[in-house]
Amino acid sequence: MSRSVIELTNSPEDIARAAEILKNGGLSAFPTETVYGLGADAFNTQALARVFEVKGRPRFDPLIIHIASLETLEKTTSLDGLEPRNKESLEKLISSFWPGPLTFVLPKHPSLPGLATAGLSTAAIRFTSNPIARELITLSTGAVAAPSANLFGKLSPTRAEHVIETLGNKIDCVIDGGPCKIGVESTVLELVPVPRILRPGGISREQLEAVIGPVAEATGSRDEPVHSPGMLPSHYAPKTPLFFHNPEEMDSLPYRRKEGYLFFSGKNRDIWYNRANDKQITGNILVLSETGNTTEAASNLYLYLHELDKSGLTCIHTEMLPETGLGTAVNDRLRRAATSLFARK
Ligand code: TXA
Ligand code: MG
Repeated sequence: MSRSVIELTNSPEDIARAAEILKNGGLSAFPTETVYGLGADAFNTQALARVFEVKGRPRFDPLIIHIASLETLEKTTSLDGLEPRNKESLEKLISSFWPGPLTFVLPKHPSLPGLATAGLSTAAIRFTSNPIARELITLSTGAVAAPSANLFGKLSPTRAEHVIETLGNKIDCVIDGGPCKIGVESTVLELVPVPRILRPGGISREQLEAVIGPVAEATGSRDEPVHSPGMLPSHYAPKTPLFFHNPEEMDSLPYRRKEGYLFFSGKNRDIWYNRANDKQITGNILVLSETGNTTEAASNLYLYLHELDKSGLTCIHTEMLPETGLGTAVNDRLRRAATSLFARK
């Protein structure tokens, strides 16, 4: 892959250089606490158009606007019309989870270009906790539209290297901020008409409910109107065909050297090892969290899928996580990656 992209470090000088690129209408990829983002000035329609082009992303799929101060929330949204109870929920959630991996879908400010929000009357706004990203946003125009820095529908990047491998000849620069801590995308939440998770992510439903009470979840089924295009059934897919199994199915699979196996915990792998009874099992078997911790599993998800995808395997078997904590977000991504197998046919 060509590497015409400028590879930057996270030094103050390099972050300032990436900010200049954004101010001049260029595209800068940067780390966040969830995944790497592909940034463009949220108010520059030409730069926004290039984001859609570079990612091969359909224009109906709106971008997330990244901010680094609450003042910018006022410049990007119109909250006057929000009912008091929704406003109250928003304030409580902001004080609990911002900056952090929670994105709100809110009425958009008229000055925000329609291209950023795919013509919707709402905008998705996120205040990232990553200090490199925040410095970059502050030094540029304060509002940076940034989808995940991958090709549309493919695996998300959690390392600068992942960005360079797929977008290295299409974007202007990438800041290397090391591995992303959380490893799955932010939770996308709408508050109106009722609080509802449009995409499970870095903040779990349990965490949200502890602050504002019951939260609904979009099913993403084909019968439901597409409220959040990231909820399209096929998404987040490696090139290698991927299967999503419950633990019992995973346990009963035969071992094949040319197939990949991604287990949730070391315990489940060990049970399976005994069954497989093969002492020469190699790097095609990975475990998301030896101790069975869903947060640790999420942080390894895309890295391990990228690794398995590069290993020349005929398919990848993945194991379902418990539907608690970040397990819900990981299962959502694996389920969609598995659906892509059938969508490609
Ligand atoms: O963690 C993240 O959110 C990462 C990092 C880079 O911040 N960004 C990210 O962006 O995942 P992207 O573009 O890959 O996903 C944006 C999601 C999509 O599912 C999109 O449909 C949804 O947010 N979205 C954006 N604006 C929306 C809106 N107005 N209403 C409903 N959904 C919206
Ligand atoms: Mg994405």
